[in-house]
Amino acid sequence: MTTILHINSSARISDRSHTRKLGKTFLKQWKIHEPAVKVIDRDVGKNPISPVDQDWIIAAFTDPEQRTHAMVDHLKTSDELIDEIVAADIILMGAPMYNYGVPAALKGWIDKVARIGRTFSFDLARGDIPIEATLKDKVLVVLSSRGEFGFEPGGLRAHMNAFDIGISACAHYMGVAQEDIHSAVIEYQEFKDERHERSVVEAHAKTRSIADTLAPLYQ
Ligand SMILES: Cc1cc2nc3c(=O)[nH]c(=O)nc-3n(C[C@H](O)[C@H](O)[C@H](O)COP(=O)(O)O)c2cc1C
Repeated sequence: MTTILHINSSARISDRSHTRKLGKTFLKQWKIHEPAVKVIDRDVGKNPISPVDQDWIIAAFTDPEQRTHAMVDHLKTSDELIDEIVAADIILMGAPMYNYGVPAALKGWIDKVARIGRTFSFDLARGDIPIEATLKDKVLVVLSSRGEFGFEPGGLRAHMNAFDIGISACAHYMGVAQEDIHSAVIEYQEFKDERHERSVVEAHAKTRSIADTLAPLYQ
């Protein structure tokens, strides 16, 4: 049985959220292939993950054997989030673009799953690339929506796109290789014109197509 970790990060918790609707489309399509798929829901839009603070950093960098009860407590949410990734085959990430990057609640999630001793090791003996990811073989599906457009390479706003790099640079902490990142994107949301309507239709079609491609690989 496949396990999908479904992360939603839109602060819009109603059905007005495009990224939430794309997530539903993906799961509906997957269930045609595998009705019994297990879904873990992690809604950081509804329940944001707070940023890391000094106590968290000290706890994370203290040897597990030496941690106090308070330190263990500081790492509790991080442990839960990482356990969810470990349990998952697919990470389905609904993520709006906010101020050209990912929502703060999702950045909080990323910062708490990037953890020494759990999702990466650090060794200067490896030379210029001391970080080595611990998890592997996960697939990431990013379902995104933007008010503007032209964030693709060569596009009008390519230089402002802190969103895609913000996710892909950290994918290794989730056990995801670059070639295992799939995405569908809605654009022009703020223009509310026919380009937006076309973009919505195309993004839902691409989302279904990603599910159709991936689901048979897990049967
Ligand atoms: C706080 C906030 C910041 C936003 N920043 C951007 C932005 O920098 N660039 C952009 O193209 N759209 C931006 N938008 C528009 C959203 O990306 C767009 O409304 C998207 O559909 C939101 O996803 P959702 O429909 O799942 O909530 C922003 C929207 C909000 C609410």
